[in-house]
Amino acid sequence: MNDIRLMKPYITFEEVESEFRGVFDSGIFTRGQHVEAFRRQIAEYTGAKHAFLMTSATTALWTSLKLLGVGAGDEVIVSDFSFPASANVVEDLGAIPVFADVDLDTFNMLPSELEKKITPRTKAVIFVDALGNPTGITEIKAICEKYHLPLIEDAACAIGSSENDRRCGSIADLTCFSFHPRKLLSTGEGGAITTSRDDWAEWLEVKLFHGAKGMKGMALDFVDYGYNFRLPELQAIMGRKQLAKIEDIVDERNRIRSAYIAQLEPLGFVPQQLGKNVRYNVQSLVFKVPEGCDRDGLILGLRKAGVESTIGTYALSSGTYYMGKYANPQKNAAKLAQTTITLPCFKEVDVDRVVSSIRDGLE
Ligand SMILES: Cc1ncc(COP(=O)(O)O)c(C=O)c1O
Repeated sequence: MNDIRLMKPYITFEEVESEFRGVFDSGIFTRGQHVEAFRRQIAEYTGAKHAFLMTSATTALWTSLKLLGVGAGDEVIVSDFSFPASANVVEDLGAIPVFADVDLDTFNMLPSELEKKITPRTKAVIFVDALGNPTGITEIKAICEKYHLPLIEDAACAIGSSENDRRCGSIADLTCFSFHPRKLLSTGEGGAITTSRDDWAEWLEVKLFHGAKGMKGMALDFVDYGYNFRLPELQAIMGRKQLAKIEDIVDERNRIRSAYIAQLEPLGFVPQQLGKNVRYNVQSLVFKVPEGCDRDGLILGLRKAGVESTIGTYALSSGTYYMGKYANPQKNAAKLAQTTITLPCFKEVDVDRVVSSIRDGLE
C-alpha cells in the first residue's frame, strides 16, 4: 500500500511542457511574458489593483514592512498562531513583534487582543489567515482603520479564500501570498504582494527593480537603491496553470473537508471554524483532537500506518527564540499548537483509510 502524503501538487509536467520549451527556445528566463501575465492575473483574480511577484511570502512580508518604514523600536502586532516567518520579518528589521492571541475556534487574531496591544509605537498589524482561513479579517481591518494603522495580511496560505465576497488580496492594505509546495498554488518557491494603493505600487515597482526607474540615455536610471526578489518565467508558467483552475481546486478541497468532518466529528475531532461569509480554500485541513488524545502519539501512529500528518501550526510566542527574548506566551495559540493536527488533503486522498488509521491510532 502506498503512503498517503499530506499534499500533492496540482500541476503536472505535461501541463507546462510546451510553454517551458518556449522559454528555453527564447532564452527569456526572467521578466518575460509569463511573469507579466501571471502578475496581471493575480491582480484580476484577487481584485487588487496591483500585484508584484516575489520569491516567497517571507520576502513579500519583509518588503511590505520596509515599504511601511518599519524599523528599530517600532512595534508590529502579529497573530500568534502561524509559521515563524510572520514574526521573523519584524524581528529582522529591528522592530518588536507584539504577539496577539487567537480565537480557539477560528485560530485567527482576536479583535479584543488587537485593541489591547495597540500602543503609540505600533506601526503596523500583521493578520494571518491561519491555515488559509480569513475569518475576521474584515473586522480587524475596521479596527486598523479606526487607529490609522496599516494592515498587512499574511495570506501565505490563503489564495482562493474570501470574506464577505472579497477575495484575500483585496481586503488588507498589503497582502502577501506564498507559492511554496504545501500551498494550493505552488511554483516550487514563490510569492506575491498585492495592494490597491498607487503610491505603494510605484515604490514597489522601483524598489523591486534594483531602484531603477526609466532610462537615462541608454542606461537605467537608478533613482533609489533597491532589491531583487523576482519570480522567474518558468515559475510564472506553473503559477498561471494553477491559478486558472483554483476555483475547482477550492471546491474539491471543501468536498474532502466535508467528508472528513462527517467521519471525524463523531470521534470527537473539531474542525477549524469559519465565519458566516467565508469561502475557505482548505489550505491545510486542521482539526482539534479529542479531549485527552495524545496528539503527538497520534501523528506517530499515523506515520507507522503510512499516513503523513503534522501539527496544526506554531505558537510563535512560545518558540525557543521568542520565548527567550520576550517571555510573553499567548495562551490560546499555545493550546492550539499542542492540540491540533493537519490531515492529508488532495485530489485522490483516501479519506476512509486515513480515518480508519486514526481510529486505530486512538485505540
Ligand atoms: C502563515 C505563513 N506565513 C509565511 C510563510 C512563509 O512562506 P514562504 O515559505 O513562501 O516564505 C508561511 C509558510 O508556510 C506561512 O504558513
